[in-house]
Amino acid sequence: MNTVVVGLQWGDEGKGKIIDFLSKEADIIARFQGGNNAGHTVIIDGKKFIFHLIPSGILRPSKVCVIGSGAVIDPLVLFDEIKYLKGKGVRIGHNNLKISLLSHIIMPYHKNLDALREKKRIQKIGTTRRGIGPCYVDKYSRCGIRVIDLINPDIFREKLEDNLREKNPVFKNVYHIKPYSLKTIYNQYSKFAETLEPYAVDTVETLRKAVRLKKRILFEGAQGAFLDVDFGTYPFVTSSNTVSSGAAVGTGFPFLKIGKVIGVAKAYTTRVGEGPFPTELHCKDSELLRGKGVEFGATTGRPRRCGWLDLVLLKRSVTMNGVTSLALTKIDVLDEFKELKICTGYKYKGRIFRNFPLSIKEWQKVKPVYKTVKGWNSPLRDIRGYKRLPAKAKDYIKLIENFLEVKAEIISVGSLREAVIIK
Ligand code: GDP
Ligand code: IMO
Ligand code: MG
Repeated sequence: MNTVVVGLQWGDEGKGKIIDFLSKEADIIARFQGGNNAGHTVIIDGKKFIFHLIPSGILRPSKVCVIGSGAVIDPLVLFDEIKYLKGKGVRIGHNNLKISLLSHIIMPYHKNLDALREKKRIQKIGTTRRGIGPCYVDKYSRCGIRVIDLINPDIFREKLEDNLREKNPVFKNVYHIKPYSLKTIYNQYSKFAETLEPYAVDTVETLRKAVRLKKRILFEGAQGAFLDVDFGTYPFVTSSNTVSSGAAVGTGFPFLKIGKVIGVAKAYTTRVGEGPFPTELHCKDSELLRGKGVEFGATTGRPRRCGWLDLVLLKRSVTMNGVTSLALTKIDVLDEFKELKICTGYKYKGRIFRNFPLSIKEWQKVKPVYKTVKGWNSPLRDIRGYKRLPAKAKDYIKLIENFLEVKAEIISVGSLREAVIIK
């Protein structure tokens, strides 16, 4: 069955590990949104791989990886990632990596604008400064440069000229920095075009043919539901649709052919960057989560903010994504806690809400209502059968399943590939 895997919180739920596990049974693994703001970690035989742009499925030699039109591509990062993976013994070529001709290119001015805007803003977002937002802005204002434009010298020059004519005065007059040289960018990116071209295809056709041949497609989401530009904690979000329906839009794949949505949820909550986070902790419990969970950004290295599991948030996420089953990750990180708290509602102006608020002001002011449960205080890392889990760990999982009305099909108990329990 064609399956979408998405993050249900604020990213870093462990999607990379789950994708790596599921890709065993898939033929094609496709990214559909975002860019190298993502950092997906996979650990195999003690070897760590961090993916930013290339789908994690590339680790399995017989699989084909696709980067769909909804994703944005920084050629420099792409080439570095190919080199980094090849250096680790991964086979990558034009046969197993296919990039949509329609995906947009992150240009140097996008990256600079991302950083400059962040610096200037009073209300910072805490972006990864990878140029993601400005690149999507250009896409929607219809001046973006796509792969298909980049590989056509005349079109590329014309589009670049148009862009610089508009952007250079902004750099000069608003940010007081040197304008960009058309010639320098044109020459550098024309070289990139030569390297990129053999990977660039009509990926809608790639997927159409795969469906006809009854191949199984796995869609790899990046970020998480509350970073979605429409449904997240706006404006503290990324600039793409991270929810499961983004898989159809971001690849041109017919949504009726998607049969399964696996929502990846961390057994607690983390967030990188600014924005509301009702269950965030500022005490030693937060340090324990960050320490044991190694909660540092895989892309920027920033410490992740940590807090208790928030079921109000997850309930909304399960609904929006149409989650058919859960992959619950990092439950082993909770091993040492005597007591665990789970947020089941929000208190606001003396009233209790079970729903997700829409206004950012409410988000910032709600106080979590917790249910406290006993911890299991034993290591889960080496457990491989659901029945072998301590009763209190099973109770924790059941509580989540009952509240969300969806089953946890996969339970991840460690960062290693094999640390998985299938229920
Ligand atoms: P992604 O962006 O959703 O792919 O997640 P990241 O790779 O950014 O962050 C997840 C981190 O948790 C990585 O360092 C993984 O190696 C690690 N991880 C994944 N699953 C588990 C798990 O079940 N237990 C533990 N302890 N670590 C995990
Ligand atoms: P993966 O795929 C966690 C966050 C940034 C910032 C906001 C906007 O690894 O789960 P952007 O650079 O996208 O404009 O930043 O989104 N962010 C992520 N947080 N995991 C990610 O990806 C993220 N990608 C972006 O920290 O708050
Ligand atoms: Mg990540």
